[in-house]
Amino acid sequence: MKKLGLYVHIPFCERKCNYCDFYSLVKTSEVENRYINALLLEIKSYKDKCKGYEVDSIFIGGGTPSYLKPENIKLIIQEINNTLLLSYDCEITMEANPNSIDKDKVLQYKSYGINRISLGIQSLDENILKTIGRLHNSDEALEAIRIIKSAGIDNINADIIFNIPGMSNTPGQSVQSIIDTLDKIIKEKVKHISFYSLKLEEGTPMFLMEEKGLINMLDDDTERAMYYAGREFMENNGYYQYEISNFCIPGFECKHNIKYWTGAAYIGFGPFAHSCFEDKRYNNISDINIYCDNSNNTERYRQLNEVLSKESKMFEYIMLGLRMNKGISIDDFNYKFEANFLELYKNQIDKLLNNNLIAIDKNIVKLSKRGMDVSNYVFEEFL
Ligand SMILES: C[S@@+](CC[C@H](N)C(=O)[O-])C[C@H]1O[C@@H](n2cnc3c(N)ncnc32)[C@H](O)[C@@H]1O
Ligand code: SF4
Repeated sequence: MKKLGLYVHIPFCERKCNYCDFYSLVKTSEVENRYINALLLEIKSYKDKCKGYEVDSIFIGGGTPSYLKPENIKLIIQEINNTLLLSYDCEITMEANPNSIDKDKVLQYKSYGINRISLGIQSLDENILKTIGRLHNSDEALEAIRIIKSAGIDNINADIIFNIPGMSNTPGQSVQSIIDTLDKIIKEKVKHISFYSLKLEEGTPMFLMEEKGLINMLDDDTERAMYYAGREFMENNGYYQYEISNFCIPGFECKHNIKYWTGAAYIGFGPFAHSCFEDKRYNNISDINIYCDNSNNTERYRQLNEVLSKESKMFEYIMLGLRMNKGISIDDFNYKFEANFLELYKNQIDKLLNNNLIAIDKNIVKLSKRGMDVSNYVFEEFL
């Protein structure tokens, strides 16, 4: 049976954080119910298309899924179960914010089958939490980890952001602040850490603050120093890096995210969600009203129906595969695309090897540590 991943987008947040441009809105309970009805219809619409597939990962992300009524999370998982075939060991992740969970909610999530929680901690430095506009303090964030564990879910990811600038009255993030945050998180024994560099996204409050000169982004050297220090600290504490931004205790890699990096099939439900299914890539419009108004004709809210050419599939395979520390297998590439990797990209490979940006060991091509720092440059070479 072919394997399939599902992403379910929950486009609601209690309040928008200053840095985030993921599609989400502040909701009323009426909007929530209308949205869930539309979502269930979209899931149902895949019944026939997914014959022959077995779902082995589900990721309920957002937005803030923990901000929904738990009964609605139950309805989503029930509908997936009714419509599609789930593997016995399906990884079911849900994103949660520290300020919108309690033990009762987590017990309910667990009873619906959720077996992994991804918690948005971002930082445990009070000044930084204020700068980025979070609704929780550091004690509440640590308490959230303990609550999730006490409810019986041990497979926890913590999202951490580095490269956060200061404001006129508060200092920016320092390497020490990053290490302090990681130290406290690691003491809670989370299984997985996503370690993201802050990206200044157009249209966010932070972007506007930067335009007005109210904040100054950190320079590239400071950003890299934070990345190196964080990476080393995690590695010294038993976490291994399996992707540019992802670290875990061995055996706790995120099965779902690996699908994105290996070109495996996945379907996204909800506005903003992307799919890669049956050799097509498409996404749903990021507009909840268009999404809900067209719930009986799902094709109306799909965009960019793109049939991937062989060249774009090869590029994606290389770009996504190189994000992962294990790199890509030349034999797999050659078999999958009936091509000769080393001949096809001879010039690029010579240049990247000469600049020590990739390494080739027998059948495996990987980014070097240096290549990881300029990964976008390396990827572009294969375009
Ligand atoms: C879509 S968010 C959902 C998580 C959840 N709502 C929360 O905030 O706790 C997933 C993660 O993306 C990361 N993220 C969002 N915007 C980012 C940005 N501009 N730069 C770097 N990381 C970002 C944050 O770490 C966040 O936890
Ligand atoms: S980081 Fe999470 S809580 Fe903050 S706006 Fe983005 S999705 Fe919402």
